[in-house]
Amino acid sequence: MAGPLAEKHVVLGVTGSIACYKALDLASKLVQAGALVDIIMSYGATQFVTPLAFRSITHRAVVTDQFNPDSEYSVEHVALAQQADVVVVAPATVHCIAKLALGLADDPLTTTIVAAKCPLVVAPAMDGNMYDHPATQANLATLKERGVVIAGPGTGRLASGLSGIGRLLETPELLGHISYAMGKDGDLAGRTVVISAGGTMEPLDPVRVITNHSSGKMGYAVAEAARDRGADVVLVTAPTSLADPALVKMVQVRTAEQMGEAIQEHVKNADALVMAAAVADYKPATSADQKIKKSEDDLNISLAKTEDILKSAKGNFVRVGFAAESENLVENAKAKVGSKKLDLIAANDITADGSGFGSNTNQVTLIDRDLTVEELPLLTKYDVGNRILDRVKELFRD
Ligand code: PMT
Repeated sequence: MAGPLAEKHVVLGVTGSIACYKALDLASKLVQAGALVDIIMSYGATQFVTPLAFRSITHRAVVTDQFNPDSEYSVEHVALAQQADVVVVAPATVHCIAKLALGLADDPLTTTIVAAKCPLVVAPAMDGNMYDHPATQANLATLKERGVVIAGPGTGRLASGLSGIGRLLETPELLGHISYAMGKDGDLAGRTVVISAGGTMEPLDPVRVITNHSSGKMGYAVAEAARDRGADVVLVTAPTSLADPALVKMVQVRTAEQMGEAIQEHVKNADALVMAAAVADYKPATSADQKIKKSEDDLNISLAKTEDILKSAKGNFVRVGFAAESENLVENAKAKVGSKKLDLIAANDITADGSGFGSNTNQVTLIDRDLTVEELPLLTKYDVGNRILDRVKELFRD
């Protein structure tokens, strides 16, 4: 199994909040992502959900007792701390956050955290007033200063029935924070990467657009891969149905023109631009203010060329394009390396099974500015992103 969590040891600390039920889903998704998950529950957490529920998901012993004579480890908290690639506390109560800020170690979770050297993610969940309390804010600031990744909380309906800040983040956002925490000092730390995604929408009138089949999955996957290696990521995206990746700066656009403007603005200080978006080459020459009415006659639409974003983007950064091709893959992609002055192109055979638009996998051939060709196998889009970023990293050295 590939992905940032595959075969990683995750210690998931669960403390006493009604949001404990969501930690079951987080544990399940971590296991599905290939992680080995050790659960440590506070006494409060065991009042909301049972250790058996977690054990049934992780297939591993759940730690609830500091002094368990039957533990498989001689010194449990030290053993778990040493194995861990990341420790996550979700949900984290006000009380647990205060203990962590003070460095207290009076239960299995806090002793493990004090003994651990790996990244720590703390996901608060509490009533809004408890979150706003100056002590809580000061404790969270202390943890942040120490390099702890604070995930959330989100805003919305709280268990009390009130609405406000204090909700535990949803599982996908928590997974994003966990991957980020593990990779934040990675090989792209200190680099800014601008990525485009999705299919632009060129309006014909207020109702109709010219667009294409891009789902955005490829661009979003490159963005997540870059984030998980420590890069600051700006994702300029045309409309998609995908959730925003956590800890990525999102810039929403619709048309090729808007995408071009946003790219130019953000690429000024960037180290690399990866254009995975399917940008319209042509747009309606005019866009009607009112809905075009049906008539007895055919309708001819005149199309105007859009500006080539990759070609016209100004600045000193590594330029990576994609080439969506349905024939003469390598030949057509090589021509684009020259015409768009690219450092690298990912030639994408959109006719191959499991490749191109909408799929979770992709098969690309990388071609660099010397026209050297490297054919990659069918990979997840996240792994394609990583293979591209490996090459981008080499180009930084050049
Ligand atoms: O989004 P998914 O469903 O995951 O699908 C992924 C994908 C098939 C869209 C993606 O892998 C892909 O191939 N993206 C590039 C699609 C494309 O527009 O190819 P192109 O050959 O038309 O353009 C070549 C390059 O120039 C691309 O990097 C494109 O972003 C860029 N371009 C194109 C037109 C334009 N006006 N400005 C540009 O910068």
